[in-house]
Amino acid sequence: MNNSIIEPRLRNYPELISQVNALTDGETNLFANLGNIIACLKFSMNWFWVGLYKVENDELVLFMFQGPHACTRIKKGKGVCGAAWERNKSIVVEDVNQFDGHIACNSASKSEIVLPIKNDLGEVVYILDIDSDKLNDFDGEDEKELQKIVAIIEGLI
Ligand code: SME
Repeated sequence: MNNSIIEPRLRNYPELISQVNALTDGETNLFANLGNIIACLKFSMNWFWVGLYKVENDELVLFMFQGPHACTRIKKGKGVCGAAWERNKSIVVEDVNQFDGHIACNSASKSEIVLPIKNDLGEVVYILDIDSDKLNDFDGEDEKELQKIVAIIEGLI
């Protein structure tokens, strides 16, 4: 019998979203806003790595991030980020070692969630990439809540 207790993920998304809205409200500078949003995600949720990749021609280029250094360029369809771009859909990876083609920027990364950010035409222009140093650290609830952050970013770009 499995006696392990699945710890609830005590993540205060309402507080995070409120903080992001307060920081970006009235601020028109995109870099300032994206920088603060990435910082809020990193430090309020204590994830290992949080960052944006920017679509530039046929690849993703590393943009703002918080955490260890990371790979700078990812081709469309490659890795989790490139797959999310190609599919135009969020991807939740419970174990990065089980994701075919995963790009390991850091061996400490164990699970990952990746969400595309689109412009008014529905084109993917950025990828929000979040890595955890814990296995299976993201689920559908995180995807739903992080989609609210994506919507804020889409309103700013
Ligand atoms: N793991 C990502 C690469 C980006 S690093 O995690 C920051 C991927 O497979 O696309």
